Amino acid sequence: MDQRFIGILVGDSWYRRIPNGRTYHESLPCYEKAGKLHGVTPCYFRLKDIHPGQPFITAYVKTEEGYKRCRIPAPAVIHNRTLYTRKRPKLAIRRLVEDGKRIFNEWNRYGKGYIHQLLMTEPTLRPHLPHTREATPSAIKEMMALFPRLILKPNSSSIGMGIMKLERTEHGWLLHGAAKGRAIAFRETLPAVIRRKLKSRPYLVQQLLPLATYNGRPFDLRVSVQRNETGDWQITGIAAKVAKPGAFRTNVAQGGVVYTLDKVLEAYPNLHKEAVRHGISDFSLRVAYHLSRFLPQLADIGLDVGLTEHGFPMFIECNGRDLRYSFQQGNMPDTFQQIYSNPVGFAKYLLESGDR
Ligand SMILES: Nc1ncnc2c1ncn2[C@@H]1O[C@H](COP(=O)(O)OP(=O)(O)O)[C@@H](O)[C@H]1O
Ligand SMILES: [Mg+2]
Repeated sequence: MDQRFIGILVGDSWYRRIPNGRTYHESLPCYEKAGKLHGVTPCYFRLKDIHPGQPFITAYVKTEEGYKRCRIPAPAVIHNRTLYTRKRPKLAIRRLVEDGKRIFNEWNRYGKGYIHQLLMTEPTLRPHLPHTREATPSAIKEMMALFPRLILKPNSSSIGMGIMKLERTEHGWLLHGAAKGRAIAFRETLPAVIRRKLKSRPYLVQQLLPLATYNGRPFDLRVSVQRNETGDWQITGIAAKVAKPGAFRTNVAQGGVVYTLDKVLEAYPNLHKEAVRHGISDFSLRVAYHLSRFLPQLADIGLDVGLTEHGFPMFIECNGRDLRYSFQQGNMPDTFQQIYSNPVGFAKYLLESGDR
């Protein structure tokens, strides 16, 4: 066994499932294959297993008898695959960094509003950003005067939960997504349910992007952008998520179905496929470069990118812990493996370089 360990920091429930191999959407075989490729050994542990200043940790390592908890030297480089929202784990991770550990994707969970603000500071990215405001009742009113269709989304939503749509019609406005299976009609006064939701957590109000469609259903793209074994950012894969009939959210968790980019672009024979792919890749790389100037040790992100019907990329969101299952669902096994191989390669690069 190669004894250069690469740490994979995982959450509790993920950790518990390691012995039986049923680790949700994370594929242990893909990690092992990535380790072999790069000549390092992945080891898996939780935040509570590692402490500043301690030279050894107990972590799961694959042995000939399956995954075993082994006492091993604390790895110098760690990929954070946890998804914490609280301050305490954030501080604990920071302390490990201050102790000299190189933890990439040090933090994974950034508010959508904060990411929008960071991207707005780069003038060349602004044309790709939907008009966005913090959702107060008055901001929503102002946006209703400017746009016929709006999205309301929790600042820290994920997998499409809690997202609503506002739509202007001949007879007033319709609110979709707040009540199951039906739209709420209103005119001047915002429905009480909106006011209630705004009080419960921070929301953003955003222009609804006119997304390109496939079979009449809107789609957007999941773009995996990662740093690789040379330390450079690269586009690892692009998958298209198509909303289920009648839906406005494309999330796989909301019934979205994954296709290849080429497949959905068949709906637009007037577009040059390679030019569109290049435009998406170039834009996504620029987003990654820009964000990595502000967010510590960013190395693995999954962007949601919309396309207009002219093939112009529009930013929807940046995921710090890409769930990766779009690529599994979309039947792209090589891309799926590559998504595991790159961070392991990047970890090896960090091990061997003085680069911080
Ligand atoms: N401004 C927007 N215009 C059009 N569709 C949007 C917009 N914002 C979100 N959506 C749709 O809702 C989905 C979920 O929104 P997103 O911002 O990615 O939040 P989440 O973190 O819940 O995935 C997107 O993948 C897209 O299909
Ligand atoms: Mg999303």
